[in-house]
Amino acid sequence: MATIPQPTLSSSLGASLVYLNGEFMKPEQATISPFDRGFIFGDGVYEVIPVFGGRLFRLRSHLQRLQDSLNAIELANPLSLENWKQVLQRLVDEAGGGDQYVYLQVTRGVAQRNHAFPQDVRPTVFAYVQNKPFPEESLDQPGVAVITASDIRWQRCDIKSVSLLGAVMLRQLAERAGAIETILLRDGLVTEGAATNVFLVLDGVLVTPPKSRLILTGITRDLVLEVVREHGITVEERDVRESELASASEVWITSSTNEIKPVGTINGTTVGDGRAGPVFKRVYGLYQDYKQAVRDGRVE
Ligand code: PDD
Repeated sequence: MATIPQPTLSSSLGASLVYLNGEFMKPEQATISPFDRGFIFGDGVYEVIPVFGGRLFRLRSHLQRLQDSLNAIELANPLSLENWKQVLQRLVDEAGGGDQYVYLQVTRGVAQRNHAFPQDVRPTVFAYVQNKPFPEESLDQPGVAVITASDIRWQRCDIKSVSLLGAVMLRQLAERAGAIETILLRDGLVTEGAATNVFLVLDGVLVTPPKSRLILTGITRDLVLEVVREHGITVEERDVRESELASASEVWITSSTNEIKPVGTINGTTVGDGRAGPVFKRVYGLYQDYKQAVRDGRVE
């Protein structure tokens, strides 16, 4: 019988130490039951938190969003805010500080298969640090290629659910088209990317779709809104029509792992001159300043 190679070595999993249900261990020692509802139903939520200079970026906002996701799925938070901070900071410190990401997830735990919530089951808590390179810091970035597709996901995209099949399938469309992201359309409106939020510059005004149950409120999106408002750049949170993608002078995508990226082409059609535009350059500079302040410990 052919054996399927298993990526059990720490190096191939990108983590040297993980946290599972109260204990720190090597990734190859971390095991969970196949009856875990995360595995059976995708019944759980997660967070991805960037780390700059060994400091967790906007930790409070990420933990608040985790709490919001847990509330939405009626799962009690298994750790206190202080416990989360200690666990995550230890993972970061043990991985040598620097720039990295923390991934964490909480599932409804191990139970006999039944769609309804089980009673008195301990949630499964898993977290690890990933050493993944951040995008190169450059003010003169070529734009990335994206495509558009119909948003086939469910109606609670505000919950950061580990049930990511819709996003996985939509991102794969981009991969197949040689693009890096899929911008999603629902009822003629832009929602977000498969794993990013979307900004446009229209007639010099920065625009992004509003918070709703149809998008995940990105922490990067919130930071962009915060810094642009602080610097007097006009930004509107409003519905964005699909047709406006074609008239935008700039389109950007944002996320914890992509930071802010200018879009160069949408379905093969060039946006602006295909490179980072003037508004992007300004906001990107402000974003990099903020990151530096995080590294210096001046802000969270
Ligand atoms: N994804 N929208 C969706 C659907 C996302 O999955 C993400 C993040 C974002 C951006 O959120 P933030 O700025 O907080 O990262 C928007 C993460 C990075 C992921 O799934 O890996």
